[in-house]
Amino acid sequence: MEQKVVILTGASRGIGHATVKRFNAAGWRVITVSRHAFASECPWLSGKVDHVQFDLSDPQTLSAGIEEIRSRLKGGKLHALINNAGISPKNEEGGRLGVLGTDYADWVSVFNVNLFSTALLARHLFDELRAAGGVVINITSIAGSRVHPFAGAAYAASKAALATLTREMAAEFGQYGVRVNAISPGEIATAILSPGTDEIVDHDIPMNRLGRPEEVAETIYFLCTDAASYVNGAEIHVNGGQHV
Ligand SMILES: NC(=O)c1ccc[n+]([C@@H]2O[C@H](COP(=O)([O-])OP(=O)(O)OC[C@H]3O[C@@H](n4cnc5c(N)ncnc54)[C@H](OP(=O)(O)O)[C@@H]3O)[C@@H](O)[C@H]2O)c1
Repeated sequence: MEQKVVILTGASRGIGHATVKRFNAAGWRVITVSRHAFASECPWLSGKVDHVQFDLSDPQTLSAGIEEIRSRLKGGKLHALINNAGISPKNEEGGRLGVLGTDYADWVSVFNVNLFSTALLARHLFDELRAAGGVVINITSIAGSRVHPFAGAAYAASKAALATLTREMAAEFGQYGVRVNAISPGEIATAILSPGTDEIVDHDIPMNRLGRPEEVAETIYFLCTDAASYVNGAEIHVNGGQHV
């Protein structure tokens, strides 16, 4: 039986950590990307060997990193690319960065990580995705469709653009048998959350609780299986009803 291959950015913690565990449990080969070395708190078989360390915010390391990934695929198939890494910078007090508080360098790094790297990874790994009839999953956010009390302006704008990019890629890649979808999480119990999220849970989430990273991972996994073979260009909300 052919072993399927997934590449996931930002696997060291949070949603990415839960997702690589899910794919590994299903027997996939998992190749991960993040700035730091393989996280020993997030171990799985071959995890260390298949970790590629580079910074998605730096165009030069991104190019070299993509080459390294391609060399590991050896011209073979890529069944899923999951663009999960994301950054949401805060001000010195840990508060939201609005337009007035965001400098050019922050706009550039947020867009490099949250948006541009996703397009470039898909572009340069397209042959391998096409060979597999693969899937691209972009992780957007509820902050991309409404003003959020903690997510900043650059983060929200990057996630709105990522939803648009998902549609663009779905329209362009569909004819080659490559599906592209987005998952839009709400408030998921990870390090990215800010103090004060409890109030959102009480007032804005019909299910009155945070989501678990594993609940996001299951939806990502579903989209990468044949059970979702006709799902293309969708953005699925995983937020306990926060968007309604
Ligand atoms: N948690 C939520 O409630 C929530 C809600 C909506 C959307 N999301 C989205 O879901 C995704 C995952 O969120 P999370 O909460 O699990 O995030 P997280 O806990 O902050 O983890 C982010 C991951 O991205 C990696 N990363 C960050 N900057 C990077 C860079 N420049 N280059 C390469 N890797 C980088 C980090 O590893 P290193 O530090 O080693 O680089 C880490 O593995 C993000 O796109 C986020 O915007 C999350």
